[in-house]
Amino acid sequence: MDENEWKYHGEGNKSLVVSHVEHSQVLRFLKYPAEEPGNSHKAAKEAFGHLQNIVDFSKNVMKPFLGENYVHHGNVVHLPLGFVRQLSLKVEQERPGKSFRNTYFGGIFL
Ligand SMILES: Nc1ncnc2c1ncn2[C@@H]1O[C@H](COP(=O)(O)OP(=O)(O)O)[C@@H](O)[C@H]1O
Ligand SMILES: [Mg+2]
Repeated sequence: MDENEWKYHGEGNKSLVVSHVEHSQVLRFLKYPAEEPGNSHKAAKEAFGHLQNIVDFSKNVMKPFLGENYVHHGNVVHLPLGFVRQLSLKVEQERPGKSFRNTYFGGIFL
């Protein structure tokens, strides 16, 4: 995967989203404080579970509720570490108000 095919799209307090420059695709990452890497293996496992819960909720609750045609539940995906590292450096330059923050991103949501 090539980080130059993705650009900053938006973010909330918990997630950061990048979109593909050509295709109608997004990657949604969970944000974690950069100063507390702590047990990164545990954090990665927690992130994976949290993302899976979001997907399951979309699939099992929102989709039946709103209808097949209106909900794309997405999937939890693993990405190459090198790609994510390069993407985080690139996206850091594109984020608004970057002087206020000190975060990196971990889990992934497509
Ligand atoms: N599936 C998506 N497609 C396009 N944009 C998205 C998608 N999910 C999130 N975003 C964008 O990312 C921003 C933050 O996403 P959100 O899920 O609200 O984050 P948080 O979990 O931090 O509240 C949204 O305001 C929106 O602009
Ligand atoms: Mg939000």
